[in-house]
Amino acid sequence: MPNHIKKMPFSNTLIYWYLQNKRDLPWRKTKDPYAIWLSEIILQQTRIEQGLSYYLNFLEKFPTIFDLAKADEQTVLKLWQGLGYYSRARNLHYSANYVVNKLDGKFPKTYRDLLELKGVGDYTASAIASICFDEPTAVVDGNVYRVLARYFGIKTPINSTKGGKEFKRLAQELIDHKQPGTFNQALMEFGARQCKPQNPNCNICPLNAGCAALEKSMVDQLPVKEKKLKIRKRHFNYLVVDGEATLLQKRVGNGIWQNLYEFPLLESDREVDAIEFVKSSFFSNLFQNEKVSLKLFNQQPIIHKLSHQHLHIKFWIVTSKKSFKNAISWNSFELYPVPVVIANFVENFKNSK
Ligand code: ADE
Repeated sequence: MPNHIKKMPFSNTLIYWYLQNKRDLPWRKTKDPYAIWLSEIILQQTRIEQGLSYYLNFLEKFPTIFDLAKADEQTVLKLWQGLGYYSRARNLHYSANYVVNKLDGKFPKTYRDLLELKGVGDYTASAIASICFDEPTAVVDGNVYRVLARYFGIKTPINSTKGGKEFKRLAQELIDHKQPGTFNQALMEFGARQCKPQNPNCNICPLNAGCAALEKSMVDQLPVKEKKLKIRKRHFNYLVVDGEATLLQKRVGNGIWQNLYEFPLLESDREVDAIEFVKSSFFSNLFQNEKVSLKLFNQQPIIHKLSHQHLHIKFWIVTSKKSFKNAISWNSFELYPVPVVIANFVENFKNSK
């Protein structure tokens, strides 16, 4: 079934399901933007079951935004204790003061204006604008990603820039303009209760007839999440022998720069200073008890970014009378293939003389 046809029954079925299945929660009985704001910030931080008591405690202690603004930060943080991510609580307090003192106590009423509040991003602004002011701005949270990816069979990673835009656009196309707040909450609730991450019961799902993931047996493969590779940080200390000749060696192994040439290298798991460098066995193996002078060429490491690793590179210049039998003359340096970062260094080094 083409997607534009699938979109029609989607919203109606979803809202029908929601009205029959929604949980009875206090923030679903109010349109007070202060209370909705509070609930949405708390729910970003925790599951509904745990968030409920925080929400009730906050409203009991600070029934209005004026009460929250008047409070001292410590009291607010104390009430937030256990939820984690304390900048959310500080932003709540800060923005309450902003609304009271700068906006004359008038809570912003549109998606655009809501975004101006510190700590309010696309998700929270959409939720408040739709629930409290009937503005058709789609909310996209983890639950929404899952429902849409499965129903429409979307394989774009949800944590990619492209995915973020694609899912927001789709949700925006689907939103019910007559009841945007209900639609948004229905979609989130449906994701939380029916279209669950693990082992959803698709037999009883009201949307099973049109679900692309179910049809293609891909329910457990959607949504797709991009694995963000961890960037590895490495510290390279190159030893540059300064004289008629210098030392150069070929890089072996399977890592970066295979078969290129480089200066003798001490790799360390953190930045090293001159004393550590000289005390290393790497250094003493080369110079034993020779008299040398040592100078760091670049005080700040050069950061060389590769796709999955960042190299922090220091060039240590050593002047010594020792002659190495495998040394190469500086004149022949240009004959060797070297990484760009080394070629650039040599250029700068020569110019500095
Ligand atoms: N999760 C976070 N906010 C929600 C809301 N307003 N309705 C349903 N689930 C939610």
